[in-house]
Amino acid sequence: MAESTTPARASWSGKLAFVLAAAASAVGLGSMWRFPYLAAKYGGGTFLFVYLVFVFTIGIALLLLETALGRHTRQSAIGAFKAFGKKYAFIGIFTSAVPFIIVPYYCVIGGWVTKYLVGYVTDGSAALADGGAFFSNFIADGPQSIVFMLIFMALTYLTVAIGVNKGIEKANLVMMPLLIVMAAAVAIYALSMPGAMDGLAFYLLPDLSAISPELIISALGQTFFTLSLAMGIMVTYGSYLDKSTKLTSSVVQIAGTTFGVSLLAGMMIIPATFAALGSGQAVAENSGPSLMFIILPQVFQNMGPAASVIGCVFFILVLFAALTSSISLVETCTSIIQDATGCFRRRALIYTIIFTTVMGIIVNLGYSSLAFIQPLGEGSSVLDLLDFISNSVMMPIAALMTCIWVGWIVKPKVIIDEVKVSAKFGAEKAWTVFIKYIAPVVLVVILVAYVAQTMGLFSM
Ligand code: TRP
Repeated sequence: MAESTTPARASWSGKLAFVLAAAASAVGLGSMWRFPYLAAKYGGGTFLFVYLVFVFTIGIALLLLETALGRHTRQSAIGAFKAFGKKYAFIGIFTSAVPFIIVPYYCVIGGWVTKYLVGYVTDGSAALADGGAFFSNFIADGPQSIVFMLIFMALTYLTVAIGVNKGIEKANLVMMPLLIVMAAAVAIYALSMPGAMDGLAFYLLPDLSAISPELIISALGQTFFTLSLAMGIMVTYGSYLDKSTKLTSSVVQIAGTTFGVSLLAGMMIIPATFAALGSGQAVAENSGPSLMFIILPQVFQNMGPAASVIGCVFFILVLFAALTSSISLVETCTSIIQDATGCFRRRALIYTIIFTTVMGIIVNLGYSSLAFIQPLGEGSSVLDLLDFISNSVMMPIAALMTCIWVGWIVKPKVIIDEVKVSAKFGAEKAWTVFIKYIAPVVLVVILVAYVAQTMGLFSM
């Protein structure tokens, strides 16, 4: 047991608790908010297909690697890399910077969800289903959007302050299954709307000729983002694991749940968007971070008099999914600062809170007083920039470094032995080849193709 060897480190109470906690960290705004808008933007089925392939190849391979690394070293990211030599700490530091970039904008979206929840209670469903004006007015109102972000942040920090086991595990048990049932019900309803069947075809059928480097890197980033990979969190989660938990089946379950929820979230939103706009191209042109907040209220509104109740319950569940993820993100940041500086947990949490709050306020103002900052071209925002840097740049690079490091320096055997402590490892050979050769080559090709495309060296 972890408690007896390292008294300061909390531990999961069993495999189910771990899978649920990891799935809850995984299933969040990435599946509910980010996946639908990316899929809408990149041709529906085409994006879904590439995402599916990535989740079940590089996704589970890295999930296994990270959790095993954490359990082996009993450290969060920086410490885990340093455990094999001081000179490798930089990989951990690079990786650990990612959650610090994600938390601020994650909490901004969390604030949007909170606002919609409150909106269903105070303004009623019709006010929210007005085709986007409600949403634009809200994000353009700096002070108001900051207040909602702060409410979301306060909920997150309070739970982290209470501790790993009690805070996270309990909430997960109830909220996750409810979210899945509700999302399925809304998806079925959305599919019954006129025109939704053409939208379903758009969402499910890939058009392989539409694959581009930009689509691929977005699907890759989305894989890392939804599975909470390439940012040290799963190393931290693995460090709380005891030696009897089967890693192999756990990672497949975590990946499967995450993919399933993303698939459902897309079903709620994309066919309905297609039905409203009429063509894949129109869907692509109109999709962005606001998609979920504009389309879903309209779907709910169509459901009739119960719309306010449905919207309210739905946003409560999304709020919980977002909270379990933001809790785990803040938990990671805290444990990174703690392990890096040796300071007390409380002080590390305070540093995390100060940094993420200041950054979060800047992200909010990116839609009002700082709206002139359009770092990624016309109409883009600070939020888009942070999202792009973390998902499309840093996470692929972190994953690349991790694969090379494990494959060629640490040697796969360390991870394989750790996996085998608790279970047979049938895919041992395949996993080794993947981490040593396939993943690094594919990651380099994707990164190079993407940079080349961005610099205009070729077009697709
Ligand atoms: N996977 C989470 C989601 O889909 C987001 C996320 C990214 C995350 N990195 C994380 C959650 C680290 C917890 C820890 O919403």
